[in-house]
Amino acid sequence: MSRAGAHRSAVPGARRPHVDETAPGDLVVEARDLALRFGGVTSLDGVSLRQRRGEILAVIGPNGAGKTSLFNCLTGAYRPQEGSVTFWPRPDGPTELVGRRPHAITRLGVARTFQNIRLFPALSALENVQIGTEVRQRYGPVGAILGLPHARRAERDGVRHALSLLDLVGLSHRTHELAASLPYGEQRRLEIARALGTGPSLLLLDEPAAGTNPAEKRDLAALITTIAGTGVSVLLIEHDMRLVMSVATSVVVLNFGRVIAHGAPGEVQRDPAVIEAYLGVADAEATGGDAGVTTGPGAGPGAGARPGSVVRKDAR
Ligand SMILES: Nc1ncnc2c1ncn2[C@@H]1O[C@H](COP(=O)(O)OP(=O)(O)OP(=O)(O)O)[C@@H](O)[C@H]1O
Ligand SMILES: [Mg+2]
Repeated sequence: MSRAGAHRSAVPGARRPHVDETAPGDLVVEARDLALRFGGVTSLDGVSLRQRRGEILAVIGPNGAGKTSLFNCLTGAYRPQEGSVTFWPRPDGPTELVGRRPHAITRLGVARTFQNIRLFPALSALENVQIGTEVRQRYGPVGAILGLPHARRAERDGVRHALSLLDLVGLSHRTHELAASLPYGEQRRLEIARALGTGPSLLLLDEPAAGTNPAEKRDLAALITTIAGTGVSVLLIEHDMRLVMSVATSVVVLNFGRVIAHGAPGEVQRDPAVIEAYLGVADAEATGGDAGVTTGPGAGPGAGARPGSVVRKDAR
């Protein structure tokens, strides 16, 4: 089991004690005891997690488990009623994210994509990525309007950087096409390029494979691995277990706003608590031991899985 696997427990619904051998210097982000409530609805109920720098950490869980809520707390879109989020932007020391506004968190080095794609549809692919790179530019609108030399130079650099990001995500051939005209899978990759344009050390991807075909999923897996290889830590919400298994270093499983497992992908996939969360099956032994969780959009209790059945790992 990986060091992160120290979190893992087979007790269904158990609240995990926050123990981990990871040295603080290895961490890129740590959430502690996050609680988020909307009236009577509890989205997050004491969620803690740690991500090591350079790690691809997948967050999985049934629909409504609290995955996007967690991202919203990490990026300042939601303010949790309880808990803290410590972020270690390189090369600076730790900083608290709770209470900061989204744009401030972006500038610190946390970027995200959205479950429901948010692009500027009437702008070109290049312009969408430039919006990301402008977060890093230091000249103001006056400098740009006056065409001051440093503003012109920064703009040229921004365009070059945006073009290189389009190349990275495989969209060079779409540079001047409107975002709205791109196929769905390409729009998702364009969102990733825009997020990378902000220069993040932590990239949050919310279901980047949703609505994509198998070939696009394979390309996406390669892209995520490449991004992590450049030193960007990736926090990945994903329902496609094949994709999760192929890229994730560790997996955190949420259910009803709680962390029910945290460990290496293969172990988490066989965890009885995880299988029960997805399929309503308590006894994984009935599967002969090699069953695992296979999820897809809409997976989760009452969302297509037959209670009492276990989807085998090799079934898709
Ligand atoms: N702004 C909000 N107002 C009220 N309830 C909310 C809000 N945001 C999230 N919730 C509730 O919090 C719970 C968790 O939602 P969240 O979107 O985080 O789940 P999720 O794990 O991302 O699910 P999915 O896989 O369907 O995207 C749900 O019950 C949801 O209805
Ligand atoms: Mg979600």
